[in-house]
Amino acid sequence: MKKIAVFVLCMITCFLSKTFAEPISLQSPDKQLQLKFELRNGVPYYSLDRAGKPVVLPSKMGFTLEWRDDLAHAFVLKDKAFSSFDETWEPVWGEEAQIRNHYNELLVTLEQPAGSVESADGSTKKKATVMLIRFRLYDDGLGFRYEFPMENALVYFWIKEELTEFAMTGDHTAWWIPGDYDTQEYNFTESKLSEIRGLYEDAHKGCGWPWKNFSPTGVQTALQMKTADGLYINIHEAAVLDYPTTNLDLDDKNFVFRTWLCPDATGYKGRLQAPCHTPWRSVMVCTKATEVLASRLILNLNDPCVLDDVSWIHPVKYMGVWWEMISDKSCWSYTNDFPSVKLGETDYTKATPHGRHAANNENVRRYIDFAAANGFDALLIEGWNIGWEDWYGKEKDYVFDFLTPYPDFDLPALNKYAHEKGIRLIMHHESSSSTINYEHWLEKAYTLMNKYGYDAVKSGYVGKILPYGEGHYSQPLINHYHYCITEAAKHHIMVNAHEAVRPTGLCRTWPNMIGNESAMGTEFRGRIKPGHTTILPFTRLQGGPMDYTPGIFETDMSKNAEWNKGDLMRHTICNQLGLYVTFYSPLQMASDFPEHYEPFMDAFQFIKDVAVDWDKSLYLEAEPGAYIVTARHPKISTLNKAAEGVATLPDGKKDMLSNAARFVYALPENATAADLKNATPHDVWYVGGVTDENAREVSVKLDFLKPGVTYDAVIYTDAKDADGIPGDSYNPQAYTITKQKVTSKSVLKVKMARCGGFAISLRSR
Ligand code: NOJ
Ligand code: CA
Repeated sequence: MKKIAVFVLCMITCFLSKTFAEPISLQSPDKQLQLKFELRNGVPYYSLDRAGKPVVLPSKMGFTLEWRDDLAHAFVLKDKAFSSFDETWEPVWGEEAQIRNHYNELLVTLEQPAGSVESADGSTKKKATVMLIRFRLYDDGLGFRYEFPMENALVYFWIKEELTEFAMTGDHTAWWIPGDYDTQEYNFTESKLSEIRGLYEDAHKGCGWPWKNFSPTGVQTALQMKTADGLYINIHEAAVLDYPTTNLDLDDKNFVFRTWLCPDATGYKGRLQAPCHTPWRSVMVCTKATEVLASRLILNLNDPCVLDDVSWIHPVKYMGVWWEMISDKSCWSYTNDFPSVKLGETDYTKATPHGRHAANNENVRRYIDFAAANGFDALLIEGWNIGWEDWYGKEKDYVFDFLTPYPDFDLPALNKYAHEKGIRLIMHHESSSSTINYEHWLEKAYTLMNKYGYDAVKSGYVGKILPYGEGHYSQPLINHYHYCITEAAKHHIMVNAHEAVRPTGLCRTWPNMIGNESAMGTEFRGRIKPGHTTILPFTRLQGGPMDYTPGIFETDMSKNAEWNKGDLMRHTICNQLGLYVTFYSPLQMASDFPEHYEPFMDAFQFIKDVAVDWDKSLYLEAEPGAYIVTARHPKISTLNKAAEGVATLPDGKKDMLSNAARFVYALPENATAADLKNATPHDVWYVGGVTDENAREVSVKLDFLKPGVTYDAVIYTDAKDADGIPGDSYNPQAYTITKQKVTSKSVLKVKMARCGGFAISLRSR
């Protein structure tokens, strides 16, 4: 009897595999990309071609599991379904007002033969293990994910390894950072895939802390590559929720990457419960570098916005009581009295101030005055709350309460002062990676923010994660970051998390995820390699905006603290201006001190005038690791929104007119929101460029301007003798500002110095 059953099962299996022996193909809407899926002896494989040439060679799929048969063999194909989708959606904020989401889909249903499973009533019955793979093929790339329906022998399962491979066709050039469970704060290395192993040690130097590498050929997503024939391939992931983030481990003999998930403290790489699905794995394929920057693949793979009311979400241009601490001029802490702080016991009222606490009433007022006078929306203040004396590197659980200000920070009074000037304060929550403590205080901390009208928080995850043993990107941490976002949304709070996991397009679904750091940002000062900001838009920014914190005009860190002698940042002032256009973020900072801007107010004008939200973006020229030139057109509704005082401040509706609105409406700098009513917006574009360690000249064709219309151009360029590389000719603060009339027929030739850049504002007459 048993033999007959086995025979019948074999016959069914043979029949099914015969029926579907040929690979199943799917084409992109423009027919350039072709996906093939097949089972080879029961093992799932996919491959991807572009215009008939392979991009991804046949690559294995599946999982190994704990206590269960692996999801890696013995599959039969039970079903296949094709469909198409085409819609245009509008992001709450973004690089453009409308995004087209157009793909062809293939859904394959795979089964492993039925085995006995126990039902809820204790009886046993035969059920198959079911795994679906959903492929979505766009004109610019592929997304696929694994899905596990409820009706399944597999309901609760523990992942040992995800086996998904990406088999490359050759020794491509890659822009990579080392694979890691804890930090993304690395410089990029440009090399052939075969060179990664040899460069690994060097690539690892100077990264953020803590770090945890796992393989000398491990790299992180998003990985940008270029083939010898000039094809740009980008491997990434989208919508990472309730699942660890992945690295890619390279077999450098065969150029095959395998997903390498971040394990949890017990070593598992995901605990799943059906019905469920994994995040998307993605392979972007573009023929030009500028197409990578224009791709919305990762956003499209995420779900639509789930928030019914998004009226309270708004882009923000801000300053901060922040760079003072980062550049060692002052401190987050208040006193040197306490070698050990115990919140609830330590009495700060009796402490002797050490005199270097930046978040004091007088200093904060100084920043509010400057931000208000220059048309900013908000001011971040770090070091406002007690606990900074021993916050770092102690793996301390109760490290902050996120509620109690230092004695010299008058929270209600400073809020009132800021609001009266049309400035919102941005809250700061450094969790010190003590996530249990942060979750414990979260509700109270967000409630305090609501009470005083803070509508944005910068959170942070410096140091080793508590619970002990977790990495920054394991499943429990992914769930923590997401919990903070969803709780914040309930409180109408926008979140900018530092050191949290790199974003994977979730801002489409939760647009209150207004920013993230999750890469090496400006705070690494002189350690940042030239060209860094020409790589990030291809990699880190594919998943969502970055709080890069540009705008450093004083590049010599010894001006901020003597002991920083020799710490010179590698950029010119015009490079920093260019970033406000090339580097997309709806949350954009001018991070230097007021007194560092004051000598250069004519150059600072561009930072004041530039918008932060766009209805059109054009990527004019680009090459990763070399240079980027971008043009953007502001979204008028956002400028109006700021003027409407969105969201209304708790102590009354205040004038929140931003200077960008004044610029677009051609209003004087003292204009108020009331003046907007009778004004008409001009047609405005901003162009920005940045370059690596090579000086270069670019020709900016203004053919995107309205034909027959004259525009006033203000052109901010590196001066002839400007130079962003430390050495005898280092001259980072030299720039030239020229004004001229231009039309759509004009072509502007612009020179960028080494580590330089440029910015142009264009306003119709
Ligand atoms: C690291 C963050 O990236 C930085 O911006 C912040 O100031 C410090 N942590 C302190 O929270
Ligand atoms: Ca950081």
